[in-house]
Amino acid sequence: MKSLNELKELREKLQKNMSARDKSDKVNIVVGMGTCGIAAGARKILQAIMKETEKRNIDVVVSQTGCIGMCEKEPLLDVKMPGKDRITYGNLSEKDVEKIIVEHIINGKVVEKFAVARLEEGGE
Ligand code: FES
Repeated sequence: MKSLNELKELREKLQKNMSARDKSDKVNIVVGMGTCGIAAGARKILQAIMKETEKRNIDVVVSQTGCIGMCEKEPLLDVKMPGKDRITYGNLSEKDVEKIIVEHIINGKVVEKFAVARLEEGGE
């Protein structure tokens, strides 16, 4: 498990990202950080997202959410591209994060293999 300080730093970084940017015209990635998400490894997923987006210099807004009622599919993350449906990916491992970032965020193709839900544009 990561140290508390490390998590605090990560959280501060996320908050800075959130306040400095307009969320609506950016790619948004939301990670489920409820108790079950954390137990299933959501922190590692969050760190993998930060690492991949920094490495590839991709401009995204990364944020956290709590319980969304899909415990059995944790860890989960949502990708919302401007003007596109919101896609929820589940049962993820760290290595799946890179695939989602390359295929969905860079190439614009939903990774159906990991997709567990789709919310049409305009839905919340
Ligand atoms: S406690 Fe797991 S999704 Fe709510």
